[in-house]
Amino acid sequence: MTIYHISAECFPIAKVGGLGDVVGALPKYQNALGESSSVIMPFYDNKYTRTHEFELIHSGRLQLGMPMDYNILTLKNNDLGFNVYFVDVPYLLYKDYVYSSNDTGRFLAFQIAALNWLVQLEKVPDIVHCHDHHTGLIPFMMSQCYAYQRLRQTPSVITIHNGQYQGWFSHDLVHLIPPFDFGKVGLLDWNKLVNPLAAGIKCAWKVTTVSPSYMNELKYAANGLEHLLRTESHKCVGILNGIDSEVWNPKTDTYIEKNYTIKSVESGKAANKAWVCQQFGLNPELPLFVFIGRLVGEKGADLLPYIFEEALWSRKLCVLMLGSGDNRVENQLESLKHAHVGYYNNYIGYNEKLSHLLYAAADFLLMPSRVEPCGLNQMYALRYGTVPVVNSVGGLMDTVIDVGENGFGIRHSGPTVHEVVHAMGRGVAFYGYKDHFKKNRRLMMQIDHSWDTSAKTYINLYQSIQL
Ligand code: ADP
Ligand code: GLC
Repeated sequence: MTIYHISAECFPIAKVGGLGDVVGALPKYQNALGESSSVIMPFYDNKYTRTHEFELIHSGRLQLGMPMDYNILTLKNNDLGFNVYFVDVPYLLYKDYVYSSNDTGRFLAFQIAALNWLVQLEKVPDIVHCHDHHTGLIPFMMSQCYAYQRLRQTPSVITIHNGQYQGWFSHDLVHLIPPFDFGKVGLLDWNKLVNPLAAGIKCAWKVTTVSPSYMNELKYAANGLEHLLRTESHKCVGILNGIDSEVWNPKTDTYIEKNYTIKSVESGKAANKAWVCQQFGLNPELPLFVFIGRLVGEKGADLLPYIFEEALWSRKLCVLMLGSGDNRVENQLESLKHAHVGYYNNYIGYNEKLSHLLYAAADFLLMPSRVEPCGLNQMYALRYGTVPVVNSVGGLMDTVIDVGENGFGIRHSGPTVHEVVHAMGRGVAFYGYKDHFKKNRRLMMQIDHSWDTSAKTYINLYQSIQL
């Protein structure tokens, strides 16, 4: 099957969060199963595009209120394990960021250019797989726009990585979408706005989300789309994300201080912890809790300063935080440093290398998420022998079983300061049972969350909608 994933992010080219990781791994695993899976993404102005060479394979013109030239580029030397087609719209997409607060025109241009290119290929795709609202108009355009009639029989799939963001814009801008029978404009609408995610859900042949539990949650909490998801539930399915076990492998990870395997996990983690603690002035004798993520409400970030403040006074643990986002939270976290020298530190910003080091060095990974469609951090933690401490929500429920229930992690019920601090206390106690704690590390590292299984599940899903 010829599969095209269309996405705003793809690791290692452009990553803001887990979407990048998923789109940078799934096609590789699909190719390993004998399919031909590629990615179509915007051409951004970033470190990756500045340090690689590209080849022009197609040029065209699109209409977005006015004519606009676009190019399709590919990598000259590609060692990613899948093809990537870059949509270059010079003044709109070629920016040093992925997302901004004014993205309607940018992602409309991206979607139109992608389809203009796909529709003129000698062989039309077998599957077009869209990711999140930035590509949500594609299933509508493939099925309704006159210009893309040739793609009408091509099945489209949309994966909801995050239902909170839907890409809403005013009906005043509907004319920017290539011509279609105006009687079908209702397919674009949700609550009097053009809603790209809703349009994707209505028009795609299949809708997936990134864990079975999140699929259920969306029927009751989907930022206004609950009713739609219930009506369309016959074509919806939750498929748990996997992880790229080549990129995330403590045995070969070039970002960490000391590589290790299940056999050498104790000495390996100790060496990484010693290094990290030295860099950040923390006491390596105490259990180390880390948080890695975007500082936004969905991740429970606003609770972190209060959680840390309360937990740290016990002087029985250390905390290291890596993340950026909400300014207020960043400032609150920064100010904790002075009160808890030797016990607390943070790195405000995005740092891929440091994230790997923290999964390797930490004893516990905190995820007090309010919403977590899947969550990859907890799966990386498991692979590096780090105990996930998670709220019981979304994909965290599907991947973490509590030690109290013959599992390996720590789960709390509710994203509250009290619940998380209590869970951290359980962690400190668990850390004290040295033999059990060590055995648990080896157990966690054996859990297989690689993409092998889910990549096959997606292929089966595609096969079920082939005409
Ligand atoms: P989300 O996509 O909602 O942010 P996920 O758990 O799916 O959450 O994926 C987050 C990804 O982003 C992981 O690969 C994580 O390591 C990475 N990440 C998040 N914040 C940072 C940061 N500040 N620096 C480096 N990596 C980060
Ligand atoms: C989103 C979700 C996250 C998920 C990721 C990849 O960003 O917030 O839970 O793991 O997408 O699917």
